[in-house]
Amino acid sequence: MEIPAAVSYDARAILINGERTLIVSGAIHYPRSTPAMWPELMRQSKEAGLNTIETYVFWNLHEREQGVFDFSDRLNLFYFCELAEQYGLHVILRIGPYICAETNYGGLPSWLREVPSIAFRTYNQPFMREMERWVRFLVDYIRPLLASHGGPIILAQLENEYENIARRYGAEGQRYLRWVSELGQSLNMGIPLVMCVGAAEGAIETMNGFYAHPMLEQHALNHPDQPAIWTEDWPGWYDTFGYPHHIRTPQDVAYGVARFIAAGGTGVNYYMWHGGTNFGREAMYLQTTSYDFNAPLNESGQPTTKSRHLADLHQILHRYARLLLEQERPQPQPLGEQQWAYTYASETQALTFLCNDAPLPASCLLGEEKIELPAHSVLLVGDGTILYNTAEVDAAHTLQLTYQPVEQAITRTTWYAEPLPTQRPDALQYAVTAPRPVEQLSLTHDRSDYCWYSTTLSTSGEAEGTLSLIGFADVAHIFVDGQFAATSPTPLLEGRGSFEGPAFTQSFNLSLAAGQHELSILSCAVGLIKGDWMIDANMVEERKGLWGHARWNSTVLEGEWSMLPGLLGEQGALFGAGSALVTWQQKSSEDINQPLRWWQLAFRRPQSEGAFVVDLNGMQKGLAWLNGRCIGRYWLTPATGEPESWQKNIIFAQNTDAPTQRYYHLPQEWLQEENILTLFEELGGDPDTIALCQVETITGTQAHPSQDDQE
Ligand code: GAL
Repeated sequence: MEIPAAVSYDARAILINGERTLIVSGAIHYPRSTPAMWPELMRQSKEAGLNTIETYVFWNLHEREQGVFDFSDRLNLFYFCELAEQYGLHVILRIGPYICAETNYGGLPSWLREVPSIAFRTYNQPFMREMERWVRFLVDYIRPLLASHGGPIILAQLENEYENIARRYGAEGQRYLRWVSELGQSLNMGIPLVMCVGAAEGAIETMNGFYAHPMLEQHALNHPDQPAIWTEDWPGWYDTFGYPHHIRTPQDVAYGVARFIAAGGTGVNYYMWHGGTNFGREAMYLQTTSYDFNAPLNESGQPTTKSRHLADLHQILHRYARLLLEQERPQPQPLGEQQWAYTYASETQALTFLCNDAPLPASCLLGEEKIELPAHSVLLVGDGTILYNTAEVDAAHTLQLTYQPVEQAITRTTWYAEPLPTQRPDALQYAVTAPRPVEQLSLTHDRSDYCWYSTTLSTSGEAEGTLSLIGFADVAHIFVDGQFAATSPTPLLEGRGSFEGPAFTQSFNLSLAAGQHELSILSCAVGLIKGDWMIDANMVEERKGLWGHARWNSTVLEGEWSMLPGLLGEQGALFGAGSALVTWQQKSSEDINQPLRWWQLAFRRPQSEGAFVVDLNGMQKGLAWLNGRCIGRYWLTPATGEPESWQKNIIFAQNTDAPTQRYYHLPQEWLQEENILTLFEELGGDPDTIALCQVETITGTQAHPSQDDQE
């Protein structure tokens, strides 16, 4: 007897050990939670009917410094996959190494930009050399986890949505993509290779989007021998600072999945199933620290209305999996203009999907019975009984998210002032001087968000004027003669176009006396971009700080510039081991709204078990650490930005005008008996307003599961 390959596929499905398998998968990115959270995430995933966990691999985090690898703690990919296996879950590994994913540089290490003659994601030898070196190393590392070696990994992805940039690189891009596929084959993984949205021969091409059924016909025409796999079903969306929180209803997510399976899809992966947190400085440009994504499991890893509503659907799909997978894709039977029935039937079983694609309710006949189909819904009818209605959420499934302040948690608040460049002791002046400003990343190597730019500004008489930074990114805080004077207008744009365009010019109205002034600009990077389209150039061109020039009204500032990468407090590790090296001041009532302040807040571990966050509503912008570990960037800028129009009627805006992100996740695992929360506050705020809160989900409230209140 021939032993079937561990994983293979045919036109209908992925086969695992020779068995057609319906893939119900959820994305959980291991660096976006802590290892102590993983078992519970896996348990809940299994309980909600997933049989697979998908993760990207984060090259940017595993190899932060060239040649220095880290697979410890949150980066313990091996343990993460082993845990999935222990919980009876398969794994889809999306290796990239370009992964997009709202992570710094789309998953590519920032040191790559310093490789001579490199261009990313096209037929460029320096890039391909580095990529191949990493991919071979990684695959050797995880090889025992491949299904072909008895492990849980059933599919591997290389590259990511090449289609989005294919036009930019033309034939060279296609040549690169073929090389990627050949690299994939040469790794001898013994499992199928997938490529999403843009594939080369040798890989299964998969789909991404809010809905995938509209892509099915084309997919079948392009790839008649491949199953329909949806690698990214977006159950919500990511948030960016300055824009509203994004939500998608559980009903619409369920509709999308049921509609896809009805029409013949046999693999779906929720991107994200658990979004988690962008710790440290790992978030891409503008991306909030929370990567909650309005995913079925919330940022703290708790279930939501969405996970419960989907769990019911999964259960039914698994019950009928065999029936679904053993037949050709059924032809739709029209029930109305935008209403269809898809039936899967054998001698013993039948499952019909009644689909209403219209934005209005409709009705149809099922045998003699008249059935109401809510707007945008799918009803699953099994052997004559309505088993599930995507538009109806069981009231008992409704969960609401709450933040309960922990009383009197904070016991001590102290501060230390980050000096302006001119106030730094001579011995700590690591300034670079040049006749022109020098681009920031070439100085910081992305090891800090910060860089000071200082020069002299001379005014002749004008009281009011405009300081313009031409060729600048991302946020500038302007100090004149040691005093805070202005900051960048918000919201910033996610897609800024070319470096010559208006999005890279910022202007500040200042009122200055005649004479010479000391101008110090604190440039704050808010993460690296994730794709070429964000700057209309190859990602390698990414820039921060001031690379152009500054103007006072119409006069270019011609004096010498002095650049100081990083903060003194960062260099001295005030958030951790270096804290004891300086004298922290007790907070007094005058100490509010002071820019450039390091704050330390001491608090005891809360008595209760559970998930905790810190409410930073009274602060403005900076970085935060818990017991020496960076919990991420914070920014309380109001969500005044317009939502993207292409997501209309799918993604809804919540929290308009309030800060995009107010609550910041404090992982349980990082809490101790006595804790120190350190903030570097760039602009000022009142640390007395900071509160520790417990995150809870309340069951069965009267809350109606609409897009306004579901979590
Ligand atoms: C996709 C991409 C993912 C992620 C997602 C949005 O296009 O493949 O990596 O960026 O969009 O969250």
